[in-house]
Amino acid sequence: MGFIDEIKAKAKADKKTIVLPESMDKRTYDAAEKILKEGIANIVIIGTPEEIAKNGEGYDISGAVIVDPFNDPNKQKYIDKFVELRAKKGVTPEQAKEQMEKDYMYYACLMCKCGDADGVVSGACHSTGNTIRPALQLLKTKPGISSVSGFFLMEVPDCTFGENGLFVFADCAVNTDFDSAKLAEIALLSAESFRNFVGAEPKVAMLSYSTKGSAKHDDVTKVSEAVKIAKEKQPDLAIDGELQLDAALVESVASLKAPGSTVAGHANTLVFPSLEAGNIGYKLVQRLAKANAYGPVLQGLSYPVNDLSRGCFADDIVGVVAMTAVQAQQAK
Ligand code: ACO
Repeated sequence: MGFIDEIKAKAKADKKTIVLPESMDKRTYDAAEKILKEGIANIVIIGTPEEIAKNGEGYDISGAVIVDPFNDPNKQKYIDKFVELRAKKGVTPEQAKEQMEKDYMYYACLMCKCGDADGVVSGACHSTGNTIRPALQLLKTKPGISSVSGFFLMEVPDCTFGENGLFVFADCAVNTDFDSAKLAEIALLSAESFRNFVGAEPKVAMLSYSTKGSAKHDDVTKVSEAVKIAKEKQPDLAIDGELQLDAALVESVASLKAPGSTVAGHANTLVFPSLEAGNIGYKLVQRLAKANAYGPVLQGLSYPVNDLSRGCFADDIVGVVAMTAVQAQQAK
């Protein structure tokens, strides 16, 4: 069974309720039909009767719950919650209502916050920033976590590296600015994500253009300091760096550049030193190695909310919904 089939099987075993707020996009209905048919999750679609009739024509979404954001008996509850959560920002009920009607992602996050849904998947027709900003504002991070980051679960075909070709790559999606503390936090969250999704022990490589002091620069120090911080927080975690990518993956290179490292040559969780590196890195592997790239999956948020690529297919939405449902199971 491939990675995503295993995740779907897990999702089916304890069905969660996932909101799809992009009723303006036909792929939402295509995916919803598949999810409902396979029994992966309960689905809520947010949209007006006109939007649903126009965009969902031809798809069987009879098993989905439709929430009309203009005529929903629960709406006042969500407005009140919005105002409560954004009290410090001075959000008024009128502003909350307007925002929820204009941008259904806010509506979806409030459904989670009020216990009416378990997770959200969006981003087929919204940028990453616009998809995750409502979640950052309303749902916030898990206790003890300072910053949300985004990983891809990479499934590389015919690959003996990583965990038989499975890797977590992070942060590929969210943080435009890292210091060592943030990088250490991303590493620890990524290790947990690897464990939760792959079911194997993470071996975390903190990537750089330098291996164990081969180059001197503030960028290199930032990574080696992050390793120290992460080790202090989780002494038992297999984490090492700074490592170049070849030293992280290839045993023969590791034995030359990082002898004695338990991670080098065996890494399955790759933590990149910047968003540029992470974002470019996952796309290189996806395109050149024809890898499946599932994500970006957000880690560190208090509820599972996940983004999609705007070039995604309905099947990608199905996969991300299954991953979101599994995150919701783990949150319980
Ligand atoms: N973790 C937790 N909270 C955060 C984070 C974070 N990483 N970043 C911002 N926030 C919070 C802020 O504290 C703020 O909270 P507040 O409103 O209660 O004060 C709220 O989120 C909004 O923050 P802003 O800084 O006003 O929001 P911004 O417009 O900068 O958006 C965002 C934040 C969306 C994460 C931004 O950093 C961003 O756009 N990142 C890059 C996304 C991107 O383009 N990725 C690459 C493409 S993804 C792909 O290729 C698949």
